[in-house]
Amino acid sequence: MAKPVSRILVINDEHLVLREFVKGLNAAARSLDNPLGIAFSGVATAKEALAAIESDGDIQAVLVDDTLYTLGKHNGSRRLQVSALELVQRITRFRPELSVYILIAQEKEDDVVDALFTESVDGYFYREERDYRGIYRILNAQIQERARTPFTDQLKNYVWMAKDQWHTPGHSSGESLRGSPWVNDFYEFMGEHVFDADLSVSVPMLDSLMEPKGVIAEAQHMASQAFGARRTFFATNGTSTANKVIFQTLLAPGEKLLLDRNCHKSVHHGVVLSGAHPIYLDSALNRKYGLYGPVPKKAVLNAIRKHPDAEALILTSCTYDGLRYDLRPIIEAAHAKRIKVIIDEAWYGFARFHPEFRPTALEAGADYATQSTHKVLSAFSQASMIHVNDPDFREHLFRENFNMHTSTSPQYGLIASLDVARKQAVMEGYKLLSRTLALAKELRQQINSTGVFRSLELEDLLPEELRHDGIRLDPTKVTVDISGCGYTVDDLQKVLFERFNIQTEKSTFNTLTLLLTIGTTRSKVSRLYDALMRIAREKRAPRRLVRTPEIPAFTKLRYLPRDAYYCGGELVPVFDDKERVNRSLAGRVCADQVVPYPPGIPVLVPGQVITREIAGYLASLLRSQKRMEIHGVVYEGYQPCVRALKPAEARSLHRIG
Ligand SMILES: Cc1ncc(COP(=O)(O)O)c(C=O)c1O
Repeated sequence: MAKPVSRILVINDEHLVLREFVKGLNAAARSLDNPLGIAFSGVATAKEALAAIESDGDIQAVLVDDTLYTLGKHNGSRRLQVSALELVQRITRFRPELSVYILIAQEKEDDVVDALFTESVDGYFYREERDYRGIYRILNAQIQERARTPFTDQLKNYVWMAKDQWHTPGHSSGESLRGSPWVNDFYEFMGEHVFDADLSVSVPMLDSLMEPKGVIAEAQHMASQAFGARRTFFATNGTSTANKVIFQTLLAPGEKLLLDRNCHKSVHHGVVLSGAHPIYLDSALNRKYGLYGPVPKKAVLNAIRKHPDAEALILTSCTYDGLRYDLRPIIEAAHAKRIKVIIDEAWYGFARFHPEFRPTALEAGADYATQSTHKVLSAFSQASMIHVNDPDFREHLFRENFNMHTSTSPQYGLIASLDVARKQAVMEGYKLLSRTLALAKELRQQINSTGVFRSLELEDLLPEELRHDGIRLDPTKVTVDISGCGYTVDDLQKVLFERFNIQTEKSTFNTLTLLLTIGTTRSKVSRLYDALMRIAREKRAPRRLVRTPEIPAFTKLRYLPRDAYYCGGELVPVFDDKERVNRSLAGRVCADQVVPYPPGIPVLVPGQVITREIAGYLASLLRSQKRMEIHGVVYEGYQPCVRALKPAEARSLHRIG
């Protein structure tokens, strides 16, 4: 098993003292217990310190001498100097997860401690004491503390205690499967610990997700510190549930919510469940590639101005394609009207751990951030986190809603995986993300070098109206223009899968999106490049970019989505007897959410008026050759239908528009 390496950087501008410290500390590390592989190295200037922190992902802590540091030459002559305080600020801005200790002179203690009080400093040592063993022990303990996984450790302890089970789950540590001639193969395939660790709330020492007071509370607290939140909650039913829990906490029926129409469908489900009055914001469309981007800043700010009575605003950042908002001005505008801001960071849970991706939503001031830890870090599927920074957080209400949506038998493996994902992000996230960024850059170059495929950059992805919105691209989401290769996107995915053993993330009519994560390896990149190069060499005639049918603009919301959804309604066919678009659909009010994938934007939400354009759009999608799911379209035999309100039902509802 690979052993950890932990480097601690000592920063001191007096060369002799520095050498003495590094030597003394390394001697202490060698002679004492050192399970984390701690080794010390030294630098004398702020510039060297910042360069080391940037290039060495194994650095876990810094020991900064309280002095003035040279940063470099200013105007070619005067030397630029920074204080220890400024240096600490630069370091923690760059890598907030690092432990920071200060070496001080005893007589200056009060000044230094006061000055650094609000900074993320973990402790102080007196320089003159030269207590290398004491310093080593404290630093070692501090790094070990960050590397702890309280829930997972307890889960492992419990499994090794091998208690007889007189409680759920029924497989009882896999006993019901082991040795069975019929299902033993499943036990063997999954592995014994999957079953051993599948425990339940009947085991008090493993705490309760519904009312955490022990190891789950501790694990959540460590996650909140790691992700920069006041509070963090582990969700075992994905960000889909996380979004709903927040809505039900913040919104009473009829209260206004500003939301991107392009939000994930869980957000739209949350609107139905909470009874909120949604104000939809149209996201910008890149017509060339059929990609829906963020909502233009102007549109968000206008909506905030027009609806100061809104309770909350939710946006997705980054989007599936990696486009991230310049959140600060938007959040400030919302807060000026006392509107709470929720950012769906389902695709951005790693962002805190590399400066390339920051600021995170919380750093930009968001009240809530939901993250699918499982999508982009090492947690099991369905394992997500809810981070809360809302100063008016009503915990009792949140708890009630959280428990309403959480199974009373959550999967303990998921909780453990969140604990471990946090540990990994803190201990080696920076290093792994640096590698991922380098691989993404390499992959983009390789894709372009095929001469047939082209990786799209920010300028290609941004629709015109977003050009001045400060949008940035997460480079680990690589969107590829495939129109030059001659295949349709479905055929290309099939070829990649069947001939080259490659499964990609998502597609539109003209693009494929590749998701790089901390699990992406160089050999995977090489295999993908090899496959694309071979396909490129086939020299098939390129296709023209497919013109994707544009989603019709949002029409009137006549009733609250919840009211419309709970009407029984009736199924109305999309086509008439002659296979033409059914004209009687126009003017009816939809009772369901209708969402084509891609792009995953609802064409209709419950309570929305169906127009001729929308009916025509749905018909064109249903006739299209591309393999496509359209959620909300119901088949009655071969007839695709949508559920619409019956006229009498519609008359009985309260109109909102
Ligand atoms: C923007 C966005 N939010 C939320 C979700 C739901 O996340 P989960 O799969 O964790 O439930 C998704 C899933 O694709 C998503 O794309």
